Amino acid sequence: MDRRLVLKTLAAMANIAIAALLSLPAILYIFSPLRRRSSETDWIDLGVLEALPQGAPTLVRYEVQPSDGWARKARRASAWVYRQDDRVRVFTSTCPHLGCAVRWTPESVRFSCPCHESAFSLDGGRLSGPAPRSLDPLPWKLEDGRLYLRHQVFRPGASQAVPA
Ligand code: FES
Repeated sequence: MDRRLVLKTLAAMANIAIAALLSLPAILYIFSPLRRRSSETDWIDLGVLEALPQGAPTLVRYEVQPSDGWARKARRASAWVYRQDDRVRVFTSTCPHLGCAVRWTPESVRFSCPCHESAFSLDGGRLSGPAPRSLDPLPWKLEDGRLYLRHQVFRPGASQAVPA
C-alpha cells in the first residue's frame, strides 16, 4: 500500500472522529425531548396550607412549565383545594364532560359546570348532568407546611380518568 494513501485514510478517519465528537452535544440536544414524557411535571408549590381558608373550596391558580418537546412557554392552570381541619382534597377545576371550568356555588353547596349543567359535590363526586365521572383528584403532598400538587390533564368524556 502506498504511503500517501495510508496518510489520506488516517486523516479522513481523524476528521470523521472529530466531526462526530463536535456534533454530539447538538445531537443530544435535538433528541433530548424524546426521552421526556409529556405527562411528567414537577411538584408545584401552592404555598402554605394554613393560609388557605377552611370549610369552603378555594380555587388556586398556578403555572405549569412545559415538559413536552421543545415547548418553553408556561401555561396557566387551576385546581380546587378543599381544606377542613386535617382533611385536604385537591382536584382539577376542569369538567370531565367536555373540559369547561367548573365553579363553586356556595348557595347550593356544590360545584357546577356552566356549559351543560353537570353538578359535583363538595368532595368532587358527580351528582348530575352529562359528566361521565367525578372531578379528577390531583396528586398532592405536604412538605414543611406547604402544599404541593402535581398537575395532570385527563381526557374529557371518558368514564375513567385517563391521562391526556
Ligand atoms: S363541559 Fe361540563 S357539563 Fe359539559
